[in-house]
Amino acid sequence: MIIDFRSDTVTRPTPAMLEAMMKARVGDDVFGEDPSINELEAMAAGIFAKEAALFCPSGTMTNQIAIKVHTQPGDEVICSDLSHVYIYEGGGIAFNSGSQVRALPGDLGRITADQVSLAINPEDVHKPCTSLVCLENTANRGGGSCYRLEDIRKIRQVCEEHHLKLHLDGARLFNALVATGQRAKDYGEIFDSISVCLSKSLGCPVGSLLIGSGEFIRTARRVRKVFGGGMRQAGFLAAAGIYALHHHIDRLAEDHAHAKKIAMALRQKEFTGEMLPVETNILIFEIKGRHSPRSFAQRLKEQDIIVMPISPTQVRMVLHLDIGPDMVARTCAAISSL
Ligand SMILES: Cc1ncc(COP(=O)(O)O)c(C=O)c1O
Repeated sequence: MIIDFRSDTVTRPTPAMLEAMMKARVGDDVFGEDPSINELEAMAAGIFAKEAALFCPSGTMTNQIAIKVHTQPGDEVICSDLSHVYIYEGGGIAFNSGSQVRALPGDLGRITADQVSLAINPEDVHKPCTSLVCLENTANRGGGSCYRLEDIRKIRQVCEEHHLKLHLDGARLFNALVATGQRAKDYGEIFDSISVCLSKSLGCPVGSLLIGSGEFIRTARRVRKVFGGGMRQAGFLAAAGIYALHHHIDRLAEDHAHAKKIAMALRQKEFTGEMLPVETNILIFEIKGRHSPRSFAQRLKEQDIIVMPISPTQVRMVLHLDIGPDMVARTCAAISSL
C-alpha cells in the first residue's frame, strides 16, 4: 500500500462521502436550481456568519475571483512573498485583474499590520493604488503556520483606516481553527471575503467556497461565469462538501497529531536539519549531510512512502484523511531505518 504525503489534495472520497454524492439532488446551478449547491452555499455562509457564498471548482478560482472583484486594473495587492496567490497561481493577479503585487517578506508566510501600513502607497499619481490585502491561513509555504487573531485584527484596523479590502486565502482555514480553537465567525467578521477549499484536508474530490457579503457574491457570481466556472449539475460535488463540513472538520486534529509524531521521528535523525514549527498538518524540513532531499525521497519511495522535495534543501510532507495511524507508525519506522 502506497502512503502518499505529497499533498492533502490526493485523498479519495470515503465510501460514506461517495454515498452522499450518489444520493445528491441536483439541478442546473447556472439557473440557481441545484438544491445541493444552494444548501452548501447557505451552510458555508452560516458557518462564517456572512450573507452569501459561491461554490467554485478550485481554490485558485475563488482567490482569483475575489481579487478581481476587490481591485481595478493598475491597482496594487499586498501579500506575503510566500503566498499562494503570488507564487502558485500562474501570475493570475496580473493576468486576470491587471493588478500588481507588493510582496512582503513574512514570518512563516505571515505578515504584520506594521508591514502592511508601511507598504500602502500614498495618494500620488505616480503610484499604483493600493486596494487589497491578501492573507493566507494556514500558510502553506510557512509549514502550515497559523495567524493569531489579534494580529489579523490589527491588519483589519489598518485596512479600515486606508479603505482597503481584506481577503483570506483560507484553503486550510479549518486546520487553523481546529489547531488554535479560534471561531469561524470571528473570521467572517474580520474579512471582506474568505476562500476555503473542500478538496484539501477536508477530503472532497473537487471544490472551493468563496464567502462574503450578498453584494460581493452577486458580483463574484458574474466573474465566475466569465472565468468559465459556471457549473451545471455540480450538486454531486457539493454533496461531498456538505458531507465534509459535517464529518471531516473535527478529525483534522488527528492529522495534526500525526504530523507531530512524524516530526519526532525525523528529529531523531542526524540528517534532519531545520524544521519549520509543526502547527497543523504540514511538515517542511531540511535534509542535510549523508542524504539530500532527493535521496531521502528515493529511499522512502523504495518502501512505498512518497514525500515531496520542494527545494534543493527541503522536503514537504502533508498529513491527510487517507493516512491513518498504522501508516504513520510504518512511516516513523521507515524514517528510523534510514
Ligand atoms: C494556500 C493555498 N491556496 C490556494 C490553493 C489553490 O487551490 P486549488 O489547487 O484548488 O486551485 C492551494 C492549493 O494547494 C493552496 O495551498
